[in-house]
Amino acid sequence: MRITPQTEGKFGVIVEDFDAEAASADDIATLKKAVYTDKIAVLKNQDLNPRQFLALGERLGTVEPYYEPMYHHPEVKEVFVSSNVEQDGKLVGVPKTGKFWHLDYQFMPRAFDITLIYPQVVPAKNRGTYFINLAAAYEALSEDLKLAVKDTTATQSVRRYFKIRPSDVYRPVTELLEEIDAKTPPVTGPTVVTHAVTGENMLYISEGFTTSIEDSEGNSRPDLLHDLLEASGQLDPTCQHENIHLQTFEKGDMLVWDNRSLVHRALHTATPEPAVSYRVTVYDDEI
Ligand SMILES: [Fe+2]
Repeated sequence: MRITPQTEGKFGVIVEDFDAEAASADDIATLKKAVYTDKIAVLKNQDLNPRQFLALGERLGTVEPYYEPMYHHPEVKEVFVSSNVEQDGKLVGVPKTGKFWHLDYQFMPRAFDITLIYPQVVPAKNRGTYFINLAAAYEALSEDLKLAVKDTTATQSVRRYFKIRPSDVYRPVTELLEEIDAKTPPVTGPTVVTHAVTGENMLYISEGFTTSIEDSEGNSRPDLLHDLLEASGQLDPTCQHENIHLQTFEKGDMLVWDNRSLVHRALHTATPEPAVSYRVTVYDDEI
């Protein structure tokens, strides 16, 4: 196994000669360390079926299947499928996932620690995912914003980006919203959190899931939420902000990232090309 810094983009490492099935405990520990410190590891030349992909996830921690079954791989439910390609006349998984800034499962009481993405059908052009390191974004804040964010709390909710399921057709929207709030109630916690492994301070906000920030006296601070999202790069419609890293990939690549600290956003184009991606998400037991 060979790990070298990525030459394109702003952070991340390339991992060559990584054999997912034969990897030793040391290899796995080295890979995890790279994920925590360099944020994204691109494993080259992977050739795994869904079960083997799941098995690699299980070596990194405890795999958590997605709470909504419509995303599940038909044979391996722990594998989340993002796809706009029909198989035997019907869609498998869900198309156009994640086209907004978010951490995976940020709307739940605990976001995932590590995300593995394994593209299966790779678009010919316009492929990639945008990332922002929220630890670096916190460090780059002005002293005024660092002071303003201290002792505030942020609330996360899936409400704005919950995807309508086929079974929701003809349901009143209020009934659906009540179900969303009952199943996934909003979650409130500190706006700045500490990374359990690296000890970095990080913003815990995203344009997609963070609905409000409150100060220590309970006052809503939409101005502060806006300023923090803007400073971190999440309000830049061109995705050219200096904090934004574009991660591209090719067939055979697998991306493994530190979901504690990376907000990300899928790159989907107006004229979509066929794209299929598998995802496994992990809690790593480092609390
Ligand atoms: Fe995501």
